[in-house]
Amino acid sequence: MSKAFERLPGFRDFYPEPLPHPEVASADLRRHIFDTWREVARRYGFREYDGPPLEPLELYTAKSGAEIVGQLYHFVDKGGREVALRPEMTPTLARLVAAHHRAYKKPIKWYTIPQLFRYERQQKGRLREHFQFNADLIGEADPAADAELIALLIDTLRALGLTAQDFVIRLSSRNAWRDFYARGGGAPEREYDFFQTIDKLERETPEVSAGKLQALGFSLEQVREFIQRGEPSPELQGILDNLRARDMGDFVKVDYAVIRGLAYYTGPVFEAFDRQGEFRAIAGGGRYDNLIHLISGGKVDLPALGFGMGDVVLGELLKARQLAPALRAQVEVLCVVEDETLRPATLRLVQQLRQAGKAVEYSLTPAKADKQLKRALELGAALVVTLRRGEGGALLAHWKNLATRAEQVLPPDQWPWP
Ligand code: HAM
Repeated sequence: MSKAFERLPGFRDFYPEPLPHPEVASADLRRHIFDTWREVARRYGFREYDGPPLEPLELYTAKSGAEIVGQLYHFVDKGGREVALRPEMTPTLARLVAAHHRAYKKPIKWYTIPQLFRYERQQKGRLREHFQFNADLIGEADPAADAELIALLIDTLRALGLTAQDFVIRLSSRNAWRDFYARGGGAPEREYDFFQTIDKLERETPEVSAGKLQALGFSLEQVREFIQRGEPSPELQGILDNLRARDMGDFVKVDYAVIRGLAYYTGPVFEAFDRQGEFRAIAGGGRYDNLIHLISGGKVDLPALGFGMGDVVLGELLKARQLAPALRAQVEVLCVVEDETLRPATLRLVQQLRQAGKAVEYSLTPAKADKQLKRALELGAALVVTLRRGEGGALLAHWKNLATRAEQVLPPDQWPWP
C-alpha cells in the first residue's frame, strides 16, 4: 500500500463551510476577514500592493532581528542564491518604496495581505504560515500619522464586530525607552540588547530578566517602576489626544511593557490584545524611520510606520466571541430540469441568468424533480425555476420563491425581478 499524504505541521488546509473536521480552517471565515481588511483600508485611503513570496535571505538578516532570523525558511536556490520565504512584509515594502517612491505623492499609504512563513515552535495562535494584513504610511514624521494608523487598526477590529470591551491597544515608544536607557547611562551599542530584554519581561522569569538588566547597568525594580508609572511622553500624549478627538480613547492605553521584538523600530510602537488576556497579540506595529535608508543602501531616507495583523489569533478571537459570520447562501436560483427534453432550453436559461449576475445551480445529470427541490433547500436558494410547455407548446418559466411560496409564470426570457 502506498502512503496517504498529510499536511506539514503548522500549515493549514482551508475548506468551505460547514467544516468537515474541527482541525481544518474555514475558507469562508478567511474571506470574511480579508474582505473586511480591504474595506476598512479603502475607507482610510490605503492602496493595495504586493511583492514576491521569496526574497534574498539578506533582506531579513540585515535588520529584522535575531528572533525572526532564527525562524526563517531559507535555502540555496538552483542559481546558488541564498533565499528565504518572507517571514514578514516590512523589508519588502521598504525595498519597493526605496525603488520607486518618486512616482508617488507623500504620504504613501499602502496595504497588502501576504502569506508569511516562520518556522515557529508550535503553540496556540502561532503557526508556520499565516496571512497578515499590513498597513503602512511612508513619508510623514508627525505623530498624527501614528494616530491615523492606530485609528485604522481600531476600525479594522471594530468592523469585525469587536468592541472596546474585547480589545485594547497597548501603546509605548522606543523613544521613551531610549531616553530612559540614556539617562541611566546605558552603552549606546547595547541599546538593542536592552530593548530585547524589555520585550521578553513578560515571558522570562524575573531572575533571568534581572540578570540581563544588571549586565546592562540597570535593575529590574528601576525598569518595573518606569513601566508602572506609565506616564505618557509628550509624543504619546499627542497620539492619545488625537485618538480621543475621534472618540477612540477607550481603545488605547499607554503601556511601556510593550517595546516590540523587531530590530528596526525607532519611535512609537503598539500591540493589540484581547482584554481577557486569553490570546497572543492580535496585531503589532510601530515607527521604523531608518529602515528605508538602510534597505536602499543609504540612497533614500523616508520616515515610515505601519502594523501587521495576523489572521490566526484574530480568527480564534472572532470564534470565541461568536463573531464569525453565519454561512450565507451562495446560490440564488436553482433551475429544475423536470423534463429532460427541456434540458437544452434550461441550459440557455441558466446561461442567461448567470450572465445577468445571478448565482445559479442545476442538476448536471437527470434526477427526480423532488430531489432537485430538496437540493435547492439545502443550498439555501431563494428562487426555483422550472421550464414547462404551456398550451400550444410555448415554453414558460414557473418561478417559485421558497421563502414566501409565491409563484409566477413568465416567458423564459423574463425574470421575476425588475
Ligand atoms: P509581528 O509582531 O511579527 O510584526 O507580527 C504581527 C502580527 O502577525 C502578530 O501580532 C500576530 O497576530 C501575527 N503573527 C506573527 N507571527 C505569527 C505566526 N507565526 N502565526 C500566526 N500569526 C502570527 C511584523 O511582522 C511587522 N512586520 C509588522 C509591521 C508592519 N510593522 C510595521 N509594519
